[in-house]
Amino acid sequence: MLSDQAGDGKRTSLHGFWSSRMAFILAVTGSAVGLGNIWKFPYIAGQNGGGAFVLVYLFCVVLIGMPVMMSEILIGRRGRRNPVASMALLGEEEGSSRNWQWVGGMGVLAGILILSYYSVIAGWTLEYVAKSASGVFTGASADLVGAEFGAFIGDWRKVVLVHTLFMGLTIFVVARGVERGLEQLVKFMVPALLVLLLVLLGYSMTSGHFGEGLAFLFMPDFGKLTWESVLVALGHAFFTLSIGMGAIMAYGAYLPEDTSITGTSTAVVAADTLIALLAALVIFPLVFANDLNTAEGPGLVFQTLPLALGQMPGGAFFSTIFFVLLSFAAWTSAIGLMEPAVAWIVEQFKKTRAQAAVMIGGLIWLLGLCSAMSFNVLSDFRFLINVDTDGDGIMDAKGTIFDNVDYLTSNIMLPLGGLLITVFAGWVMCRNSTADELGGSGGFYTAWRLLARFIAPIGILVVLINAVS
Ligand code: PFF
Repeated sequence: MLSDQAGDGKRTSLHGFWSSRMAFILAVTGSAVGLGNIWKFPYIAGQNGGGAFVLVYLFCVVLIGMPVMMSEILIGRRGRRNPVASMALLGEEEGSSRNWQWVGGMGVLAGILILSYYSVIAGWTLEYVAKSASGVFTGASADLVGAEFGAFIGDWRKVVLVHTLFMGLTIFVVARGVERGLEQLVKFMVPALLVLLLVLLGYSMTSGHFGEGLAFLFMPDFGKLTWESVLVALGHAFFTLSIGMGAIMAYGAYLPEDTSITGTSTAVVAADTLIALLAALVIFPLVFANDLNTAEGPGLVFQTLPLALGQMPGGAFFSTIFFVLLSFAAWTSAIGLMEPAVAWIVEQFKKTRAQAAVMIGGLIWLLGLCSAMSFNVLSDFRFLINVDTDGDGIMDAKGTIFDNVDYLTSNIMLPLGGLLITVFAGWVMCRNSTADELGGSGGFYTAWRLLARFIAPIGILVVLINAVS
């Protein structure tokens, strides 16, 4: 999929290029569509009261996510290096400073930290493939499904085992090179996921509680909105689009010159948002139909779907397929999470991709043990951030290691990364450079520049300041 030709006479990528615009779109979509859409979005929407939160999230995706994604791709393509080196190079070239490399550095670190817990949850999906196939959920009651989930995450050996398995699979693909196989996998996975979600949507529409789910998700009650939940919505816009940490910048470095950045970003953002909304539309009617708690937390999708599907004819089959697809989606995202660190090690320390993948993957696996154990042996080890453990809207405890790593990365590091990236693209890079990458001075370019210079950075700053103070 990657070739040596960029088709321009400019700087060239050390890792080759995507063979087509489609290959790039698929890689970015594969990175964007993941656990964030199907596992995280529904559970945080539930914890933050639905409607108003969903609306804020949609605003963040369009007004902040889009310009950040376009900025990342254009910086990556112009720099043609890993995010650290691209920022250093362009910082110097645009008459500022090499210190911009620290933005790339923060991204490398954020990717490592996110993957450390992402892999743990991805491991849960692997376990649920096996559980679904075994038929344990067929005809099971809510209590039984809940007990099954509790017993699984309470057993550190099992959680560590599946985390290890998932990291092994990720290291394997990254070591072989991002390009091989990824295109085929995403090409099949995203449409398959869409079709399955539509089938499940049909089922949840017949649950008798579809209207309740719809109202929960789309009737905004601004009374429930706090600055804290606005920050969660903003952080999630970054997380779900894989932006703010250089993953898309790393992919942009392999993008041929003639591909439209605006068109690509629009397609990816639309697909990602559609899948998240569909997942939530499937899950919430089922939550109401089964009298579950909307603020259940990270276990939401692992309890709602097996329970509902267990009551449906052919449920074991659909449930197995669902978790297989979710594992694939997590896998293609995990590859994106590792790419900035791996590309950096390869270029900076002259290692092979395989060596870099094993080094970085090993480190991530080790860090992930802390998150894996924060659901069992370390569940009482709590510090720093406040969390609501019983879903009544009152912060009643400190967070676990998992909660803290998730908060620090999604809600602080990614928005901060996004802020600096838009400031760099909008203010440090000269108009000629960005217009050159984005293809001219038409309406889209003007809109991007307005968003990247003012709306996105100011929006991020306002939310960060209000939520943290
Ligand atoms: N966007 C992915 C998801 O929604 O699951 C998570 C992610 C992948 C974040 C890759 C960042 C990244 F670089």
